[in-house]
Amino acid sequence: MAPQIIALLGSPRPKGNTAKLMNEALRGIRDAGCEVETVHVPRLTFSPCKEILYCQEHAACAMNDDVTPYLEKFRDIDGLIVATPVMTMGIPGALKSFMDRFQVFFMAKYFRQEPLVAPEKKAHRRTLLLSIGGQNIEHDFDGLILSMKAFCDIIDCPYWDAVLQNNMDEVIDITTRPKVMKDAYEKGYRMGELIARDMAE
Ligand SMILES: Cc1cc2nc3c(=O)[nH]c(=O)nc-3n(C[C@H](O)[C@H](O)[C@H](O)COP(=O)(O)O)c2cc1C
Repeated sequence: MAPQIIALLGSPRPKGNTAKLMNEALRGIRDAGCEVETVHVPRLTFSPCKEILYCQEHAACAMNDDVTPYLEKFRDIDGLIVATPVMTMGIPGALKSFMDRFQVFFMAKYFRQEPLVAPEKKAHRRTLLLSIGGQNIEHDFDGLILSMKAFCDIIDCPYWDAVLQNNMDEVIDITTRPKVMKDAYEKGYRMGELIARDMAE
């Protein structure tokens, strides 16, 4: 079976620059033989984590909404792509709230020592981050990357690599940066290739 990838789009704009960059990475990972499900997170209907702590004792979330199926799917995926703009120096609210709901994985892994992802699955899983920021300032991606790395650890899908482009307020259109677009394609392709290789071993 082809490696199964989920791609999370954190930008509210389905045809914005983040989406354009993501589509290059998706072209790459599909060329490497993977199957991809894209999730436009701001379009989902869900509430942020309410800290009910049901997941302290159960391998599920007490809340039932559009996030629910992904809590199951994330146990089985072989790789993850997250494409997001920087907002207020971090991950935009909808995507961050989506990630927070994976506290189910945190509790299973760290509170009960019963991880939801099988060790053999974890061994080949990888995450690719694609991010853009409007500003040309130091530390623009720092907060976002810290949160991403924590999320990757929680869901046992290790942070593998990133494609980052700041200064978008001047660049305007990401397609005018062929090097960045190529980087996204190549990293998508490479991650797919590595996952497929490790799955075959
Ligand atoms: C609410 C909001 C907050 C933002 N905060 C930042 C920021 O902290 N740093 C930054 O570099 N750009 C920031 N931006 C700019 C976006 O990262 C930038 O416009 C990006 O290109 C949008 O991607 P899109 O084309 O996919 O919508 C912000 C944009 C919005 C709408």
